[in-house]
Amino acid sequence: MIVILLGPPGSGKGTQAKRLEEKYHLKQLSTGEILRAEVAASSEIGKKAKSIMDAGQFVPDDILINIIDSKVQKGNAGYILDGFPRTLNQAEALDHMLHVKNMAVDVVINMVVDENILIERITGRFSCVHCGAVYHEKFKLPLKKGICDICHHKEFTKRKDDSLDVIQERLKIYHHQTSPILPYYQKKNLVKDVDAMEKVENVTNKIDHIIKNCFKTDNSEGFYMVN
Ligand code: AP5
Repeated sequence: MIVILLGPPGSGKGTQAKRLEEKYHLKQLSTGEILRAEVAASSEIGKKAKSIMDAGQFVPDDILINIIDSKVQKGNAGYILDGFPRTLNQAEALDHMLHVKNMAVDVVINMVVDENILIERITGRFSCVHCGAVYHEKFKLPLKKGICDICHHKEFTKRKDDSLDVIQERLKIYHHQTSPILPYYQKKNLVKDVDAMEKVENVTNKIDHIIKNCFKTDNSEGFYMVN
């Protein structure tokens, strides 16, 4: 099964992907996280991507397409794609690479959030330096102040591209370059809209319901498991 989480910056793709990954035997592929790891490692890809990401622009399609092609393996139970595809070119390349692997996109979850909420979410986001767990100054504080719930470390950081001017650039690019892939998937009847402005748990329940319905209709080999 291939699930695409589509939505603007701050719509909750990463938050929901992590929760769904825990529930289903699906692997999260977050292109933002993969690229940030490349930047941290100062790899060739990381060196090319750093300034582009800091400015809120898109990293070239060929880099992202190669990354996803190398990670998606035939025979794995499935993937949640978070942050890919982001351009029409990437969407077409994804279809092609999946076709070659005898796989296909099952559902595209379109996460709908008003822009003022997106900005509040992104400007308040921070994460654990050690394990990357994501928090929010208002909506999701660590259970114990200043201590990561997951790894118990005490150092937190904010993403450089979460500054207000870069957020505005990211939202602009999303509308110009990513929104056009919605009609591409709508024509294939794959899009399910989700109101992602509700509480995290409610949004998970809605996505959960959609994925369960996909399991029902696409369970020919019977190896998808729900915990
Ligand atoms: P990426 O990391 O993918 O950034 P993004 O798409 O801009 O998305 P975000 O990570 O900002 O938000 P999210 O939707 O995951 O929200 P989150 O769950 O964190 O990409 C970064 C950069 O990498 C790009 O700008 C680009 O340069 C490059 N890149 C990546 N993929 C690429 C591609 N395919 N092609 C080209 N370039 C690419 O939630 C946000 C905050 O809100 C958190 O604090 C969270 O706790 C909180 N929150 C979440 N849900 C809720 C809720 N329901 N209620 C209240 N708070 C909530």
